[in-house]
Amino acid sequence: MKKPFIYITRKLPDDIVSDLRDEFYVEMWESEDVPVPREILLEKVKEANGLLTMLSDQINSEVFQHAPSLKIVANLAVGYDNIDIKSANKFKVAVCNTPDVLTDTTADLTFGLLLATARRLTEASEFVKSGEWTSWSPMLLAGTDVHHKTIGIFGMGKIGEAVAKRAKGFEMEIIYHNRSRKQNVEKDVGARYVEFEELLTHSDFLVCLAPLSPETKETFKKEQFAKMKKSSFFINAARGPIVNENDLYVALKNGLIKGAGLDVFDQEPINRDHQLLTLKNVVALPHIGSATVETRTKMMSVCVENVKRVLSDQKPITIVNE
Ligand code: DGY
Repeated sequence: MKKPFIYITRKLPDDIVSDLRDEFYVEMWESEDVPVPREILLEKVKEANGLLTMLSDQINSEVFQHAPSLKIVANLAVGYDNIDIKSANKFKVAVCNTPDVLTDTTADLTFGLLLATARRLTEASEFVKSGEWTSWSPMLLAGTDVHHKTIGIFGMGKIGEAVAKRAKGFEMEIIYHNRSRKQNVEKDVGARYVEFEELLTHSDFLVCLAPLSPETKETFKKEQFAKMKKSSFFINAARGPIVNENDLYVALKNGLIKGAGLDVFDQEPINRDHQLLTLKNVVALPHIGSATVETRTKMMSVCVENVKRVLSDQKPITIVNE
């Protein structure tokens, strides 16, 4: 009998792929750094029973229309805003993500980005490496304290909770805004639910961790930055389009807020000439929230398990469109 066909849109380690090869006929786009060209993806999905995708792939209705045999899209991310769920439902395709295994890793990066932004770590490292350090000096690269300040978390999902735990260790006041109250975080770390307005006006570090959806798109624009403290920092480890980048640039440039730590951008990769990258008070990372060897390996295993289960008519471990 013909083996089911799995197409993987980016080069993954051999041991992950060999685990699939026993049961399936597997093809993979053989580049780690360059996304699969659209025309190749559209060609491959014609025959595919399963797709293992990256957050950089747009899996929209065009893809589903070209994929008569597709049963599962396993996305290597917890976020799935790159997949058109309505079309997946219409074509009866299971969409699976990789929650839980990346929670602590992404929280570590988010809190690290907050620290790096407040304490000017990337700027300081560049200063030493470029030979500019001539003497210890009292206010050299003086940053802003993090401990005992107020962190405001926008989007209190699992990663938000894990960031709140880290903030508690820094003896921060923790406030949050979310679609629903999270009694467990309130009890465990003393987080306080606030209206969005208070989140803006009261936070010293406003950390965006909400999923991208039509409701959250461009939540942070001119008016929101204008309400924030001039001494505050904006940290985004969620998705770029939740922020209006031009308004963020103007806010940073004009001192409406003090700095920003960004792991995500509207367009990824961000253009090297982008105005945000010209600012010293911006720490920019290339969307590496979950990027540790341990966690990425676990995420790939979750994808593989989901593919195996769906193609053998079992319930996947992490489905988003049940
Ligand atoms: C995700 O999994 O959605 C994260 O953005 C990856 O870092």
